[in-house]
Amino acid sequence: MIPLLVVKNLNKDFESSGESFEVFKSLNFEIYPKTSTALLGESGSGKTTLIHLIAGLESPDTGLIKINNIEIWKYSEQKRADFRLHNIAVIFQQYNLIPSLNILNNIKFHSKLIKKFDQNFQDELIELLGLQSLLKKYPEEISGGQQQRVAIARAILTKPKILLADEPTGNLDEENSLIVSRALEILLTRYNSTIIIATHSENLANRLNKKLLIKNKKIREL
Ligand SMILES: Nc1ncnc2c1ncn2[C@@H]1O[C@H](COP(=O)(O)OP(=O)(O)OP(=O)(O)O)[C@@H](O)[C@H]1O
Ligand SMILES: [Mg+2]
Repeated sequence: MIPLLVVKNLNKDFESSGESFEVFKSLNFEIYPKTSTALLGESGSGKTTLIHLIAGLESPDTGLIKINNIEIWKYSEQKRADFRLHNIAVIFQQYNLIPSLNILNNIKFHSKLIKKFDQNFQDELIELLGLQSLLKKYPEEISGGQQQRVAIARAILTKPKILLADEPTGNLDEENSLIVSRALEILLTRYNSTIIIATHSENLANRLNKKLLIKNKKIREL
């Protein structure tokens, strides 16, 4: 089988107050289609940075990121944004809901944009994630955990080829975390997505196919 994601010799430094800080040194790994992978590592190890690199939102210094055999960093910014829109959904650590839209329109937003809106699936996700009573509210009027579930519904509704989730259960209790696992399972089994989840939750990681650990600027399979 051909990998869906290939990361080769990836290097990434950040400049911060005149000093350079090395996050990744010659990172190498592959992810196969229709799999779920947990991205583990202590706080500050680089999980969010890696998700942003794969999503095409943060640029590597050197090295290669290939998705579906496409080197996304060789694309123009416009083409990369277009590729992301149609292939990748990101659940951000800070949710990134659109403040001026109510919850229902936040949920619909991305899938409408790429003309993949599916009313039945939307209704299913709203019920599964317990969002019925929030639909007319605005992001600032709901709790962090509720915002997190809205961001999850919005991302899953696009039926993405790749779902990148940054601590999607970071703000949820055990019951809601289980519900989120079930929603992700639907993506995997019904829509053949490939899922990468940064998480500190052992429970969530144990429900996935594979675990990758980021440590000392490298990544390895556990
Ligand atoms: N824009 C930036 N400028 C400078 N340094 C940054 C920037 N973004 C991240 N870093 C640094 O890179 C390292 C990795 O950060 P990252 O957010 O990827 O960690 P993380 O594994 O997601 O942590 P957490 O579990 O707390 O979310 C950290 O040391 C952080 O301080
Ligand atoms: Mg993070």
